[in-house]
Amino acid sequence: MSHVFHRSLRHEYPFAVRGKGVYLYDRDGRRYLDASGGAAVSCLGHSDSAVTEAIARQLKTLPFAHTSFFSNQPMEALAARLVEGAPAPLDKVYFTSGGSEAMEAALKLARQYHLERGERERVHFIGRRQSYHGNTLGSLAVGGNAWRRAPYEPLLMRATHVSPCYPYRDRLASETQTAYGERLAAELEREIERLGPRTVIAFVAETVAGATLGAVPPVEGYFTRVREVCDRHGVLLILDEVMCGMGRCGTLWAFEGEGVVPDIVIIAKGLGAGYQPIGALVAASHVYNALAQGSGAFQHGYTYIGHAAACAGALAVQRRLRDDGVLARVQPMGEVLGRELDRAFAGHPHVGDIRGRGLFRALELVRDRDSKQPFDPGQRIHARVKQEALNEGLLCYPMGGTIDGVQGDHVLLAPPFIVKQAQLEELVHKLARALQRALSTN
Ligand SMILES: Cc1ncc(COP(=O)(O)O)c(C=O)c1O
Repeated sequence: MSHVFHRSLRHEYPFAVRGKGVYLYDRDGRRYLDASGGAAVSCLGHSDSAVTEAIARQLKTLPFAHTSFFSNQPMEALAARLVEGAPAPLDKVYFTSGGSEAMEAALKLARQYHLERGERERVHFIGRRQSYHGNTLGSLAVGGNAWRRAPYEPLLMRATHVSPCYPYRDRLASETQTAYGERLAAELEREIERLGPRTVIAFVAETVAGATLGAVPPVEGYFTRVREVCDRHGVLLILDEVMCGMGRCGTLWAFEGEGVVPDIVIIAKGLGAGYQPIGALVAASHVYNALAQGSGAFQHGYTYIGHAAACAGALAVQRRLRDDGVLARVQPMGEVLGRELDRAFAGHPHVGDIRGRGLFRALELVRDRDSKQPFDPGQRIHARVKQEALNEGLLCYPMGGTIDGVQGDHVLLAPPFIVKQAQLEELVHKLARALQRALSTN
């Protein structure tokens, strides 16, 4: 009997014992094609020797030195590397052990930035409905996913939510993409004004919405309008690229194509690629300088900030992505995946939308394509798809509550960047069979 407090208390999990390339193996010898990198984590697959060797080397010399006493070389090198690949004014990196921690740090940094500038009355965060920013209380508060928030609602700090950028369901037929983006930015501005001038700390958004909405890229112009609104009101823009960043969408930073630079961006999953637990926030120089010229310290901290072995692993990941050309695979392989998904599912009666960017894609499942009517949530279609995919030897990331936290189902795909065309074909073939089985009793 297991003494582990597993995620589900009712589920028997197979034991993973080995990973090679894009495949994971359980102790019974079953092979699984990892089409979601866990949750968009394993961008280099499961056996990258350059990364494991870099971690082993670091562990032999210096595994850990507490950052209240020391800096360390891999942390410095990783920060320099990330900043070198980021547009100005992004300039300083604060390391954490994962995405939720990075979001907590970003929220506190944003508040402290305003305090240092004498704007103590800024107390509100604005997020978007159907977003996910982590499971700690602060990140949960800015997140907008109803079912995750519900049990903890009385404990959550002040945060309000505006509409996500979700053109499949929310763009009016009479509206261009640009007009839709403008409407959403106007909604954000109204919310800032409703909360009161100079009371909002930051607007928080995933650049490409991931786990809870299912790989939804923003419409063109949305973030430029949002940036203008934030600037008009002195509100910081925090972009969450924990899932969509670090190459997942084809560029190192998902915001690169959006014509904006955030004040703070957070990253995690693909940063360590699953080889080490690591996250980070990258802050613009004006944010950092407010503290540097003010109190001189960020009133925050975690024990494992800048963990030397974690940073050495993430530095090796950066080298693989950018020096060895792995990042350059994402765009073309993403196009292959997009084509394969279209070929298999464009006419599927229960696939309402096929969307995403790079190797970050999703299918939204519907009962009826024309009306976009979702399945009854009681059917738990997403859970059935996950199980049937597992039976096929396929790991994908289905989720329910796509539309409003209760209704809607999607399947998220985020294969490793090293994936080959034949493996993408295998992925789509297995997914089609899993969908067929999961939907067969409707
Ligand atoms: C967009 C986004 N932000 C934050 C997080 C939280 O990251 P972690 O699970 O590493 O705490 C996640 C995790 O799925 C995420 O997808």
